[in-house]
Amino acid sequence: MTAFPPSTRGQQNVKPNLMIDLSRRVAQNAYDEKTNPTGIIDLGSASNALMRDEVESWVKRTETAGDIRNCSYRNLKYNDTRCAPHLPAAAATFVNTFFHPRVVLTPTNILVANGLTALLDTLFFNLADAGAAVLVPTPSYGMFQHDLAARNGLHLVPVPCDDIIQARFRQHVRPGRPQPELLNRLKKAAQEQRALGRPVAAVLLANPDNPLAACYSSGMLRWIVKWCRLERVHLVVDEVYALSGGEEFQSVLHLGLDDMLENVHVLYGMSKDFGLGGCRVGFLATYNEQLYRAMRTCSMFTWVSAFGGIIATRLLSDTDYISQTFLPKFQALLKERRDYLATILPDNNIGYSSPNAAFFVYVNLQPWLSYFAENEEKLISIAASDSTGSSTQELALLEHLIHHGVFLEPGQAFFAQEPGHFRLNYGIEGRDFVKGLARLLGALRALSGEKLCAEELDVGVFDGRQQQQQQQHSGWRFLSCLDSS
Ligand SMILES: Cc1ncc(COP(=O)(O)O)c(C=O)c1O
Repeated sequence: MTAFPPSTRGQQNVKPNLMIDLSRRVAQNAYDEKTNPTGIIDLGSASNALMRDEVESWVKRTETAGDIRNCSYRNLKYNDTRCAPHLPAAAATFVNTFFHPRVVLTPTNILVANGLTALLDTLFFNLADAGAAVLVPTPSYGMFQHDLAARNGLHLVPVPCDDIIQARFRQHVRPGRPQPELLNRLKKAAQEQRALGRPVAAVLLANPDNPLAACYSSGMLRWIVKWCRLERVHLVVDEVYALSGGEEFQSVLHLGLDDMLENVHVLYGMSKDFGLGGCRVGFLATYNEQLYRAMRTCSMFTWVSAFGGIIATRLLSDTDYISQTFLPKFQALLKERRDYLATILPDNNIGYSSPNAAFFVYVNLQPWLSYFAENEEKLISIAASDSTGSSTQELALLEHLIHHGVFLEPGQAFFAQEPGHFRLNYGIEGRDFVKGLARLLGALRALSGEKLCAEELDVGVFDGRQQQQQQQHSGWRFLSCLDSS
């Protein structure tokens, strides 16, 4: 007998998904200096290794390691779906300290789950009915599509803002003047959805944004809240990159939300700033009691493991450590990498939107697309090997980069309208970062037929000293010399 097919819903999940397929492909041949030196260096995924050593030593220094080593049956048996009540309490303390909400949060405003992906799924399950629309200004985090649609059947509606990259986040509008352009676009998208018979349930933002690494100004957040109030829709803000934004970041919870207080919901988790994606802990802050109760009922589907929960509880409650040690180091490392890129990218004629948050930049590789347009044969042969069957120039360029051993996340994974943009992650381990950049620059150079210099240099570990050395060389020559593979 042949296998019975999955449900109609299940069949949707069998279809190719660009981001998921690419990340699996990169993971299958991941670069490792010793065991797989010809593998692919992942400069695309949003993972943060900058604070790895720091967090590891914190775990060893504190009692957390002991808690886990001496893990008793107390932790292994069925526990609270929140791990323990201490976890939402620690999360409330953390948000009250670092996000400065106008209305102080208590543990009953916090729902915890095994990561933001799970929380987004549960949140939207309880916020909107299948068929409803959720508006997302784009480019933005492509997996929102998956989180909203895979099980909930919601429509993620991209609201294209590629041409207002700055004004989308911060636009000064004089009193009495028209509203910011972003609101015009939200309005248009809402009208179109309603004309299709779809109710609009929410606006969803990532602040700081992924992949643009920019923070919304408090003025712009106020406009958006006002618009959501007028349209009677929820506002969901994913603030998972909050701490990386430093002074630039302003939580929506800090605004006077007035009668919208119960309709604005904020997400945060351990995966990004703390680099603890394997910890699988995320949380939602909401003042909406009914929503809280609905999600609490569903929390058995997103049960938090005792192991991840113990680490998150201790770390989130260690306010002194976060503010006095973790944050200054994190900000210094981010600055070091951003300064480095500010030399290397322009030196090599790569445009990018300068980041003020997160650990990636959105680079513009459009000039290299033309190479594929002019080389029809090459494009066809490259596109033929693409798992999604797509034949765009952007994916052809990506194939070329992968062929040279480096991966960047393509703009179309973020609903970008203009082809040729990629997310470049600078949060990976220092040696890999420099080597990955060398491969990227080498791959772009190879398109115009330039040969790499065969000389090999010891890259060393990325630090301020090395950065100075690198700045003394012209980016091209120096970096292409680093990599002869
Ligand atoms: C904006 C945003 N939200 C959520 C996530 C997923 O977070 P988690 O690891 O907690 O599921 C990511 C991961 O890239 C992200 O960029």
